[in-house]
Amino acid sequence: MKIAIGNDHAAVEMKLAIKAHLEERGIEVIDMGTGTSESCDYPVYGEKVGRAVASGEADLGIAICGTGVGISMAAGKVKGIRACVCSEPCTAKWSRMHNDSNVLCFGARIIGIEMAKMITDTWLDAEYEGGRHQRRVDQLAEIENR
Ligand code: RB5
Repeated sequence: MKIAIGNDHAAVEMKLAIKAHLEERGIEVIDMGTGTSESCDYPVYGEKVGRAVASGEADLGIAICGTGVGISMAAGKVKGIRACVCSEPCTAKWSRMHNDSNVLCFGARIIGIEMAKMITDTWLDAEYEGGRHQRRVDQLAEIENR
């Protein structure tokens, strides 16, 4: 399993904590940056994570900014990406099970590192259910083609 992770300046510390947490789980992490607290633009890093997942370079992505909102919008602009912002584990779990989310986002200014780890674990441990949900996920892809 490979996960692409990216963040803006608001989320460097949280990114490093989540990266270490993933590596402890035996997951290979592709760090798309940023690595410094110098002000930067979240669309750049959201797109990098989205493209890594869409191309198959990574299996899944995690993107973090101040709120999680901007970077999720950026990742979700990439064709094939189903990004979601989660501030608690329940949404993360259902986003995998029903929506087949492939980029998890959260806000470093909104939740703490322990909550971010718990959300990440819940998301990774949940499995897409397919079945009746596939029709709806296919409809999401159709929107991209219109
Ligand atoms: C950066 O100040 C902040 O706007 C960004 O991290 C994010 O919260 C945007 O959605």
